[in-house]
Amino acid sequence: MSQPFASTFQHAAVAADHPLASQAGADILKAGGNAVDAAVATSFALSVVRPYSCGIGGGGFMVIRLPNHPRLGKVETTINYREWGIAAARPDMFENDPDPDAPTHGGKAVCVPGTVAGLLHALENYGTMTREQVMAPAIRLAREGFAVDQHYEDSARKDKLVLPWLEQDPTRQARFAFLWERFLDSGRIRKGYVLKLPEQAAALELIAKDGAKAFYEGPIAKAIVEAVRKDGGEMTLDDLASYRVEERAPLRTSFRGRSIMTMPPPSSGGVVLAQVLAMLESRSDLLDAAMEAAKVGGGASSPAYIHLVTEASKHAFADRARWMGDPNFTKLPLKAMLSDEYVRSRAAMIDMGKTLPPEAYGTATPLPPDEGTSHLSVIDAQGGAVACTETINLIFGSLLPVPEFGFILNDEMDDFATRGGKANAFGLDHADLNRPQPRKRPLSSMTPTIATRDGKVELIVGGAGGPRIISGTIQVTLKAMLFEMSARDAVGGARFHHQWRPDVLQLEPELRQAAGLADALAAKGHAVGDREAVATMQLIRASAEGWQAASDPRKGGAPAGH
Ligand code: GLY
Repeated sequence: MSQPFASTFQHAAVAADHPLASQAGADILKAGGNAVDAAVATSFALSVVRPYSCGIGGGGFMVIRLPNHPRLGKVETTINYREWGIAAARPDMFENDPDPDAPTHGGKAVCVPGTVAGLLHALENYGTMTREQVMAPAIRLAREGFAVDQHYEDSARKDKLVLPWLEQDPTRQARFAFLWERFLDSGRIRKGYVLKLPEQAAALELIAKDGAKAFYEGPIAKAIVEAVRKDGGEMTLDDLASYRVEERAPLRTSFRGRSIMTMPPPSSGGVVLAQVLAMLESRSDLLDAAMEAAKVGGGASSPAYIHLVTEASKHAFADRARWMGDPNFTKLPLKAMLSDEYVRSRAAMIDMGKTLPPEAYGTATPLPPDEGTSHLSVIDAQGGAVACTETINLIFGSLLPVPEFGFILNDEMDDFATRGGKANAFGLDHADLNRPQPRKRPLSSMTPTIATRDGKVELIVGGAGGPRIISGTIQVTLKAMLFEMSARDAVGGARFHHQWRPDVLQLEPELRQAAGLADALAAKGHAVGDREAVATMQLIRASAEGWQAASDPRKGGAPAGH
């Protein structure tokens, strides 16, 4: 029997997008670990049970808030372990590549992975347990195996870049043989298939024993470089040995009495979230009226509410496309983008009766410089919180496995601007400042976020799904905070998405089928389209009964805790 996607826990909880990963973290919490110990255990477990979403071949972001660490006292920080470009990366490296799939499939698509360095940095600096303790559940899952679920099967079968792409041409099956044979059961992959990954267990055991060195300098590094170079990529051992994580202060914003900590660039999600919430706050009159109408309609689904959030999002996504990239390479106009004056000026343009021409969103005037995925949320018994989002980018990343160690390498190159005038696999336009360069991190939509009220955690949220992560995070936050929905309703309910370009307002089926809704939005000028799932979200929220935790039913997860 499948586990419920939402539950309430008295002391501590983990909401990940696979029940076995949530359980791995919950066991660590039960054994006395803090939120960071549990997040690291959950993430390593996800590397095994969600191998197409994230894992040790990818990267991520972690937002940490610990009220009272035994050594450090209060901790509020973010860890950036996003993958970065190899030394051979060049801004125009894909412009004339005859292979249209080069930025997404195979060795050229791979950026230097950051997950192992990031997780171990978090554990060593902010955790309380040993590598062996927190990695034990993942090692066991990799050795003993786990049953593939419906989401795994659907992701492999339905994603046009995975099974349908491999089936088109048998040479592709040979090129990605380990993926084809082991992760996809030679094309027969079905729910219930038991996937064992003794090779990844061996990698995790080496990392548990020798730390990040095992991955970045040892036999795993050698195997990664061999796999990438055999497939036409130019990664070197030095690329791996020189990888570094970085810590930055959280991006802070506030909304209706709450303090919000989220991820700064190279996440674009935190900035878009902050801009949208600030625009909504500056038009409180519109927001209150739209919410009243939405409540009558059953919650967060009236034309006025969807239009208001969409219009604010279009301004923020337009600025994302024009002005954002890795802050280590370009000075981003963050101060200007988040200034009261600018946010108010964009919010003042919102017309509740109609949409504007696409070029009217955000600003094209230079601003003064100043800037495949899985999310897990954790709360520990001391009120410590972690929001962590990780990715290998598209489903099964670059498709390129490291056969000796049973994991998949990312295709994060496609989150850079790779070809002038051409959107990436998520349909996102990017400015030239997001072109590939050595040690540069591609712009991301991952939006791990923690909100507090009166000094206590109110919610821990984030999701997977490319740019739809940002829409999901905004909407789940508003549902939990303003509509006071339970975690179950805030996560389970229908969502919508607009990323400025393409100029389409995507509605999940429940909204598409709601009487009169699509017509009312079309009457305001929206080009209305369909989207089966607008992100997959994980939320933990405080309630009078305890910690409500929900793992998005769109991905088949379940929370765990005690
Ligand atoms: N690879 C998806 C993201 O970082 O936005």
